[in-house]
Amino acid sequence: MTQTMIAVIGGSGLYDIDGLEDARWQAVDTPWGAPSDDILTGTLEGVAMAFLPRHGRGHVHSPSTVPYRANIDALKRLGATDVISVSACGSFREEMAPGHFLIVDDFIDRTFAREKSFFGTGCVAHVSVAHPTCPRLGDACFTAAEAAGITIHKGGTYLAMEGPQFSSMAESKLYRSWGCDVIGMTNMPEAKLAREAELCYASVAMITDYDSWHPDHGAVDINEIIKVLTGNADKGREMVRRLPALLGADRAPCPHHCDRALEYAVMTAPE
Ligand code: ADE
Repeated sequence: MTQTMIAVIGGSGLYDIDGLEDARWQAVDTPWGAPSDDILTGTLEGVAMAFLPRHGRGHVHSPSTVPYRANIDALKRLGATDVISVSACGSFREEMAPGHFLIVDDFIDRTFAREKSFFGTGCVAHVSVAHPTCPRLGDACFTAAEAAGITIHKGGTYLAMEGPQFSSMAESKLYRSWGCDVIGMTNMPEAKLAREAELCYASVAMITDYDSWHPDHGAVDINEIIKVLTGNADKGREMVRRLPALLGADRAPCPHHCDRALEYAVMTAPE
């Protein structure tokens, strides 16, 4: 039986988690360079945990310069089995208000200035991302968030934009017309890379604003976002604290095959 290691990638506002036993920040090197920061490891209720601040402590990486490949590879090297992305997002839905959370289960990837694969010349692989998140892990996050008293929605599509500027009103209305529910700048290519690394991946959107489509809310304002972020980050920590009891220390094979994503994906002939 594999041992669970829950890895949390914290977005804007979430730069650490609390309550870890044997907590220490570890430097991890990878062939893809250094991850965004050292990784905080420890145990929570007997379950191994890892935490990586996506933008680095001090918020030094922009969405386009986050070393996504190094981050996923470093977590895999540490033994992560489950990756939970927690990130600030804008909302395209009236009912998904600032302060609410959403379990994302699909993406539209509009990023264009990032390395998106571990595979390329020498070894070619095409993994499926038809279902880019792990329902087992998403359900655990939903249950943990509800138990923490967070208003949380289940199932929604995340539009990944390049940034760093926010969307124009025309773009915001277009993405809404495509059926997207939230918008953010960081879950792609992270989710695709987690699949290539055969890691279960769930995405928890912490909603900070209504993007720019909403007639009563005007332009996205980073100061307003920061105000909501602080409260959201505390809720995010409360959710994380409840995950070990739900996921357990012993890890059965993923019923959705996330941990076997490469089984039929590699095209290159063995040497
Ligand atoms: N992160 C938080 N709010 C956002 C928005 N409206 N657009 C893109 N990224 C965001």
